[in-house]
Amino acid sequence: MSRELKIEAARAALSLVKDNMKLGIGTGSTADEFVRLLAQEIENGLKITGVPTSIKTKKLCDELGVPLKTLDEMPQLDLVIDGADEVDSDFQLIKGGGGALLREKIVAHASKAMAVIADESKLVKTLGAFPLPIEVNSFGLTATYNAISSITSQLGLSGDIVLRGGEVSPFETDGGHFILDAHFDHISDAITLSKALLEVPGVVEHGLFLGYAKVVFLASPNGVKQMGSL
Ligand code: A5P
Repeated sequence: MSRELKIEAARAALSLVKDNMKLGIGTGSTADEFVRLLAQEIENGLKITGVPTSIKTKKLCDELGVPLKTLDEMPQLDLVIDGADEVDSDFQLIKGGGGALLREKIVAHASKAMAVIADESKLVKTLGAFPLPIEVNSFGLTATYNAISSITSQLGLSGDIVLRGGEVSPFETDGGHFILDAHFDHISDAITLSKALLEVPGVVEHGLFLGYAKVVFLASPNGVKQMGSL
């Protein structure tokens, strides 16, 4: 999506941010645009305290002067604003294209509400065309991979499950875990898949965000459409 659309989605979400809010701050290129706009508002007097969802977002916030605390210092948040890789009409999401899904989900769970910022291309009928990121412990990777393959094929899901970054230099998350990207293409029952994946001990988290998003701002060349509300 073009940078302009990311900025417009981010700008629309900024209207939800009020003085003294405890704010979760997402990760990704759209969330980065949100941070830039937020920093401008802070310069103009807005008072918020943020909790970043990744080391990368923390760095950008620090550079731009967005006041931060850790989630331990501020364990309950009013709102998190974050991007998504896919959104369906029930506001089920796939996230984790940038590898920050674990911290993003911990922060979303600690927030009273989640707002998603994206462009209209992220809206899908059925989740799954975007490969589902599954964050796994590096210990016993092959056993975990086999367990995920077996449990998902029992659910009728097929497609390559690929170690992000490859075997020689796998991508490492902020938590020091690996990511398996599952190319299921079509996830017809995200709730069942979520439960099944979490039964595999080596799975740390997965990128299905179910029941978190309350409002979605979708930017298109015709403007920003708000779906849902806080
Ligand atoms: C980060 O791990 C992801 O969950 C991002 O929020 C998601 O990939 C959206 O990123 P973009 O805004 O860069 O598309």
